Amino acid sequence: MEVTVKPLDRSGHLALARMRAKLWPESPASHHLAELKWQVRSGKFRAWMAWDEKKPVGFAEAWLRDFANGCDRMPVVFLEGIWVEAGCRRQGTGRRLVAEVEKWSRKLGINEVGSDSLIENKASYRWHLKMGFVAKETTINYAKKLN
Ligand SMILES: CC(C)(COP(=O)(O)OP(=O)(O)OC[C@H]1O[C@@H](n2cnc3c(N)ncnc32)[C@H](O)[C@@H]1OP(=O)(O)O)[C@@H](O)C(=O)NCCC(=O)NCCS
Repeated sequence: MEVTVKPLDRSGHLALARMRAKLWPESPASHHLAELKWQVRSGKFRAWMAWDEKKPVGFAEAWLRDFANGCDRMPVVFLEGIWVEAGCRRQGTGRRLVAEVEKWSRKLGINEVGSDSLIENKASYRWHLKMGFVAKETTINYAKKLN
């Protein structure tokens, strides 16, 4: 597999939306596609795609957040999501994608990257440690609907 990692461009939006729907299946690809439009326009969002020839095999995306739990820097670049197609894992693509996120962060003069994942995602936990992330505090998210 000869994988190329490139910043997202307009022609990659649909492929990215489809992969996002695998990582975050609560929303269909059409929703992700619509979301991408304003995210890209925000100027605080970046995504990178991994391609095996013309076949999309992974992505990483990041936001410049005002703050993130567990991070010392404010603002801070936050790895919002990373995905490598099941048949393409353990070949260094995830590492290359996160390297792009780190490169963007350094370019912004920020020497920290935040991330999170669900506690039950043990594979993601092990991968984050391998990538040099340090596990910080574990929290419970709350929300209260207001009438
Ligand atoms: C997490 C994920 C992106 C890793 O992608 P990948 O391309 O397989 O990662 P890499 O091949 O670059 O792995 C980098 C290192 O992590 C290690 N690693 C990868 N997956 C691992 C796992 N499940 N358990 C332990 N180590 C792992 C690799 O062995 C490699 O180590 P090495 O350089 O010492 O050999 C991929 O498994 C994935 O898409 N998972 C589903 C989505 C997900 O959970 N995303 C994270 C939450 S948002």
